This record gives sequence, C-alpha cells and structure tokens, in this order.
Amino acid sequence: MLTIIKGPYLQWPTINSITIMWETDIPSSSKVEIYLAERIHSGYQGNYKKPEYIVTAVCDESFRNIHSITIEHLLPGTTYFYKIYSENDKSEVEAGPYPLKTAVGRGVPFSFTVTSETGGYSGFDQTNGQLNVDLFAQMQRYRPDFTLFVGDVVNDGKEYADWDKYFFGPGRDFMRTTPFYSCLGNHENYASWYYEFMGFAPPKNYYSFDYGDVHFTCLDSTDFVKKDSYPFSQDELRPGNPQYDFLIRDLQAATAKWKIVYFHYPPYVSGGYQVEVLRQLCPILEEYEVDLVFNSHTIVYERSHPIRAGEIDFDKGIVYIVSGGAGAMPDWLLPKRDWHTSQSLAVPHFVQVVVTLEQLEVRAIDLEGRLFDTMQIRKNADGVKMIL
Ligand SMILES: [Fe+2]
Repeated sequence: MLTIIKGPYLQWPTINSITIMWETDIPSSSKVEIYLAERIHSGYQGNYKKPEYIVTAVCDESFRNIHSITIEHLLPGTTYFYKIYSENDKSEVEAGPYPLKTAVGRGVPFSFTVTSETGGYSGFDQTNGQLNVDLFAQMQRYRPDFTLFVGDVVNDGKEYADWDKYFFGPGRDFMRTTPFYSCLGNHENYASWYYEFMGFAPPKNYYSFDYGDVHFTCLDSTDFVKKDSYPFSQDELRPGNPQYDFLIRDLQAATAKWKIVYFHYPPYVSGGYQVEVLRQLCPILEEYEVDLVFNSHTIVYERSHPIRAGEIDFDKGIVYIVSGGAGAMPDWLLPKRDWHTSQSLAVPHFVQVVVTLEQLEVRAIDLEGRLFDTMQIRKNADGVKMIL
C-alpha cells in the first residue's frame, strides 16, 4: 500500500510562494491543495474553522518517490492550510490539512530558531533519537517562522536510513508547519541525499535568501575545507573559488538591514573543534557588515565576544554563535574557555532569534525550556550598532 514515509515538510518560503515536499515508499503522482480558512474570534489554528476554501491546487502526474510541489501567487505573511495527495495505479494516500505561513515582507517582525547536530550527537547517544524528538517539540512551542539547521543533522548522510532516524522522523510534526533551511556538515558526508531532500536554490550547498528585514547567506564550509585536509585548507578560500566569489557578490548585493551568515565549521569556538582557517572569511564578513554568524560542529552552545580583525571590538565586531544544539558532550571539551568566548554551555538547546527592524534579539533555550543566555543587537538608521 502506498505510504508517506517522510513529511510533508516545507521548503523555501518567499513572500508569495512555498515548496511542499514529501517522500512515498513507491513511485506515485503529487498534488497539493491550498486552503484559506474562515477565522473565528482572533486566534490561530484551533480557532480556525475546518479549512474549506480552496485557493489553488497544483498537480504533477509523473510518478516519483520524492515529491516537490511549489505553490505560487500567495500573499505575504499569510497563514494557509495545505493537503497533499499521491496516487499510483493501485492505491492513493493523502495527508493534512496542516497550516503553513508565507514569508513576511520588509518591516514585519518575525522569529526563527537555530539548532543542529541532531545526528552528530545521536550517533553516540543511547536515546535512539528521543532527545531529538524532545528538541523539536520544545522548538515548536516557540512557534518560529522557520528554522536553520547548521549541519550534522544525520550521523552519516550516505546512509539513507539516517535521514529518517535522526531528522525527518523526530522532526515530522515540527516540519509539517515550519519551513527549514540547512547547511552541509561533515556528517552529511557529501551525500547526494542532501540534494534530493532539500528544496533550496541551486547549487543547494550554498545559497542566500531574504526573510523580512534579514538577508541570510548559507555557506558550505565542508567544500572550503575538504574532508581529507580537515582542519586545514586546500587553498579554496580565495578569489576564483565559486563559493568564495558568491559570498562577496551576495553580500555586496544584499540590501536588507540585517545580515546573517551560517556555515558548519566554526572559526571561533573553545574546546578544540574550531577550524581556524575559516577566519580567512572574516574580513569579508566584516567589510560587508554582517551582524551575526551561526556555526556548529562543536556540540555546545557558545557565543563569542564581538570580534573584528581578530580582536574583541564591542563597537564593530561580529558575534559568532555556535549552536551545536541537539547534543551535549561536555567531556569532549577542554576544561577552559578561550579568549573569544563570552558565554558557553554544553547542554542540548536551540537558539531563538526575534527580529524587528531595530533589533535582533538572541535567546538560548535548553531542552526543558529554560532561557540560559540572551543578547540584543540594536542598529539605528545610520547603521550604528549597539550590542547589549
Ligand atoms: Fe561537524
């Protein structure tokens, strides 16, 4: 019998479109219906009547296992409901309705979460993915507009079963309603499954997008620092490297008020897992006034002091946050912090970022929902920053 084995999950929300993906166990067709619901009172979800006004439907009659349907002509920052359908000659299957929300436009506040290492930790733990279930459930309570995964979402990306065991399985409920972005970590292992399952803009291992007043740039640090030369460079961090050139072009063209860059290997983290060669990117990030960098790879939460030109600079520095979220392996870490460390805690966690035009508010939250670190970056109309 035809069965949905991954998803549905949401990809690449823009102000007027979104992509809905799922996987079936055998090849079948794809169809998505989008509904608007009549709202009762002023609430959300439970206060909507059953969705019954079809806005649009998109079909793909070709048979495939991994389904991807992009819905266009939607309204910005709007909650819709969606249902998916697949069928082949013998049977049919459907799921939904589930809510989705399109991206907000400029000037509209929003929030997102950041985490990672759902696979890198679980490869060593004995909870068989339960910790990831709890992490996704806790993130869901904060109702982010989307989530960034900063790599190592599986233990071995070339193992097909890992993608369900560590990522799509534990995250099923969360991903039905919350779009996600991710970058490649070393545990993705250069696997083709990443390219199959992700609906990001080509070439998928690096890309950028705008959401509200933030420009996000994703990099593939495992391409800059190849496996066989880790943690040292193969001289890829230079003009002429396509990704290096993309980074400069992309930041040059970015017009949003805030700029956030994320990639897996951390240029700055205490404990022995930093990849210092990636500091060659920092002058570019500084030149184009990036506000915040998210990394992972070390299974820890760590926030750096603001850093510029390799030194602490509270006026113009960039804050580097390692959100090695799902796991906590304190015994992996050296017992002392580094000069660039502001706050560090080895507990399972995620980071919530609340964005307005005037402020980025960063909050680190543990598995039980306890807030254990906060930071605000404020920037006035002249671009003068204040980090609190
Ligand atoms: Fe890693």
